[in-house]
Amino acid sequence: MKTTIALTPEHLEKTVTIGAWLSNKRSSGKIAFLQLRDGTGFIQGVVVKNDVSEETFQLAKNLTQESSMYITGKVVEDTRSAFGYELQVSNIELIHEAVDYPITPKEHGTEFLMDHRHLWLRSKKQHAVMKIRNEIIRSTYQFFNDGGYVKIDPPILTGSSAEGTTELFHTKYFDEEAYLSQSGQLYMEAAAMAFGKVFSFGPTFRAEKSKTRRHLIEFWMIEPEMAFVDHEESLEIQEQYVSFIAESVLENCKLELDVLERDTSSLEKIKAPFPRISYDDAIKLLKEKGFDDIEWGDDFGAPHETAIADNFDKPVFITNYPAEIKAFYMKPAPGRSDVVLCADLIAPEGYGEIIGGSQRIDDLELMKERYEQHDLNDPAYKWYLELRQYGSVPHSGFGLGLERTVAWLSGVDHVRETIPFPRLLNRLYP
Ligand code: 4AD
Ligand code: MG
Repeated sequence: MKTTIALTPEHLEKTVTIGAWLSNKRSSGKIAFLQLRDGTGFIQGVVVKNDVSEETFQLAKNLTQESSMYITGKVVEDTRSAFGYELQVSNIELIHEAVDYPITPKEHGTEFLMDHRHLWLRSKKQHAVMKIRNEIIRSTYQFFNDGGYVKIDPPILTGSSAEGTTELFHTKYFDEEAYLSQSGQLYMEAAAMAFGKVFSFGPTFRAEKSKTRRHLIEFWMIEPEMAFVDHEESLEIQEQYVSFIAESVLENCKLELDVLERDTSSLEKIKAPFPRISYDDAIKLLKEKGFDDIEWGDDFGAPHETAIADNFDKPVFITNYPAEIKAFYMKPAPGRSDVVLCADLIAPEGYGEIIGGSQRIDDLELMKERYEQHDLNDPAYKWYLELRQYGSVPHSGFGLGLERTVAWLSGVDHVRETIPFPRLLNRLYP
């Protein structure tokens, strides 16, 4: 029976054939232990000299790392294995012999591993991170589909930018100038006026000259947008969504969290509601904590965010930032024209901002003022203004950065390990 390493109790005591790669091996004169992987999992194959042909035993003993094969054997229980099974090998059919696989079980430097990302993805840890990424993607669709949201795909090639014009990737669009999307938000607002509750999930691009553990040039963003939903209601949706994906990862990625040695007790605390702190109070808190340089009106850097987040054991919303340091489309807070109805959700343990969101300006006259202030009277933005002209309603939305969320939930240090092929400041390959 041909199958995969994702075995079930039905396979016990049966002889199966699995297509697999060799990830590691130990052998003595009489027995060889093969560590096998096939993408679905890991299993140990035991080859006993006396139980197989001499040819098969020699083949097993000489197998090189990452060689591929069809391996046949009887499935038996193995309580020491995380997967619960072991293969008592009876035959091996070599498909391809790998010679001098560069990523050996010893330690390698990050640059070396990044240069070999196309191979590094096969390693146990990278495999676990990608499975957690996949679970976040799966549970994201579940959360929004079950919540009655319609998935809408905003364009990638755009003529308008949502988050300012300094970090744009420019490209030629025949005779016109175009950009790669920084955020689908403006289009998602149009979609919300057509479908009520919508979400997008796609790649976004920022030509950021930042070389930090939180910045990618190309990253994936989930952007829900909801008509008739105010800022406070949007925060409730955000905390429910983040709690849901954390719970899904805890529930469905036990093996992966174990491989990554993730401290799950901190993940178990990710349950709505999340604390909220206003920007005003966050400034006071930072001053108390000895950040003497910070003044009202300054944006927060990573050390500030971490210092604020350290006060809580759950993610925390920092709300109502100064209008000056936020995007043009955010609605001013009632009675406070200097701050806007927005929030950044800061993850604990130093992972930083994972969500940026806000209630959007719905008043046509105020939006026209913003267009003047931000120099947006360009044909590329005319359509966005029209959303305030025909049945404008209160609406809110947010963007969750997938890779930062993967980094946080898996407990990996740097976002470069949370996307299959990271695009970084100095890296376009592989
Ligand atoms: O805070 P940002 O810039 O918000 C927006 O783009 C809004 N238009 C979203 C919306 O309201 N629909 O980005 C949202 C999130 C950040 O919180 C962060 O998690 C992630 O996107 N992000 C990045 N992730 C990796 N690398 C980068 N360079 C990122 N820039 C933002
Ligand atoms: Mg932001």
